[in-house]
Amino acid sequence: YFTLEVDILLYKIETYGCQMNIHESEQIAGILEYLGYNETDETSKADIIVFNTCCIRENAEQKIFGNIGAIKKIKKANPDLIVCVVGCMSQQKGYAEIIKKRYPFVNIILGTANSYKLEEYIKIIASKKKKTIIDIVKEEKPAIQEDEKTYRTSGVNAWINIMYGCNNFCTYCIVPYVRGRERSRQPEAIYNEFVSLINQGYKEVTLLGQNVNSYGHDLESKFSFSNLLKKLDEVEGDYRIRFMTSHPKDLTEDVIDTIANSKHICHNIHLPIQSGSSKVLKLMNRHYTKEDYLDVISRIRAKLPDCGITTDIMVGFPYESEEDFLDTIDVVEKVRFSSAFTFIYSVRKGTKAAEMEQIDDNIKTERIQRLIDTQNKITKELSREYENKVFRVLCEDVNPKNNDVVLGRTDSGRLVNFNGSADMIGKFYNVRIKHSQSATLYGEVVE
Ligand code: 5AD
Ligand code: SF4
Repeated sequence: YFTLEVDILLYKIETYGCQMNIHESEQIAGILEYLGYNETDETSKADIIVFNTCCIRENAEQKIFGNIGAIKKIKKANPDLIVCVVGCMSQQKGYAEIIKKRYPFVNIILGTANSYKLEEYIKIIASKKKKTIIDIVKEEKPAIQEDEKTYRTSGVNAWINIMYGCNNFCTYCIVPYVRGRERSRQPEAIYNEFVSLINQGYKEVTLLGQNVNSYGHDLESKFSFSNLLKKLDEVEGDYRIRFMTSHPKDLTEDVIDTIANSKHICHNIHLPIQSGSSKVLKLMNRHYTKEDYLDVISRIRAKLPDCGITTDIMVGFPYESEEDFLDTIDVVEKVRFSSAFTFIYSVRKGTKAAEMEQIDDNIKTERIQRLIDTQNKITKELSREYENKVFRVLCEDVNPKNNDVVLGRTDSGRLVNFNGSADMIGKFYNVRIKHSQSATLYGEVVE
């Protein structure tokens, strides 16, 4: 007998940053699978490594640079290894050159909105026709690619991009510079992708965009976000719809009504406040005041009393005084967010706020700690309110730390631990919350 040794080519993707990046990595995985590569967890075994990068804060960049640097040794051991750096960090002005200079072993550097070109470029590098390819997006509104080969890895939930880019230019934010202006996908394309996901058995779909509320503004038909939500909600089946991110200045009454009247849309809104100080919000170019924000919250609560509201908050923005910071604490205490992502403001070169007078680092670390303490106390109190009540929970996964425990989410977005096993994944259960420990809820299935 002969044994035929077939070499299977392996790929590894390292993803940094937001849900949008996680989803784009699924599209990159789709390309690599199509080219015949299989996934591996082990960097040292990979034939191709893709870094899908983020540049929202400086610490993200530092981490990525460190991890690219660590590939040098692996590339030495395996000179055929193809190394790709794609996404937001490489799209930043001057970064492709920095990456090429510091890490000459990198083969392919792509920006945002053109990772689909990996297919073509990998073939060129693999055939040794070229050693390095750099292709950074030049247009502000690159065309939307609809022929994606998505390889979904997200389990029970599937992501759908409904729009790309951002027009808001919040003064701290690098996103509009690296992702360009707003472009909405055609509603028909979104609808078809959505229906196909529900038919494949996905129980939850999350619609993604930097500012989903301005979906459709750029379309000839002006098909709005609430129109899109209504259209998708009509699709038959037992499933959930989530979406992110909403901008407080654009969350219309129409969207709130649509959620309230829908069958499938979760009562869960991610509504970044950034700061509670009207003065700081103005400097941030957010187009709302502290009072406007509180007003949106009461409008949501009036129609969706059980809505889980989550947020993003920054401390240490230029000119933030103790009084401004106390305004942030005040809003956090008034709104009682189900959870908050908290950040220390990080200077991003090229943005307006980078030119402003910066405040002391010690003040920033002291403020973030006070903010986290305040939110933790609230989260703990809110968790108590869940106790002894029954919620419909979608089982998403087995708890990686305990195989007899599964993880699921309430409609409002809270994570619940309950007894179960892997065969429960992808099904809905009524779960009574028995006890809670700060942000974690523990429950048991009831009939
Ligand atoms: N520094 C710190 N946090 C930032 N974010 C965006 N830009 C910066 C920055 N320069 C935060 C915002 C945003 C979230 C995705 O990241 O809170 O909502
Ligand atoms: Fe950045 Fe503001 Fe756009 Fe969000 S809305 S991506 S924070 S510029």
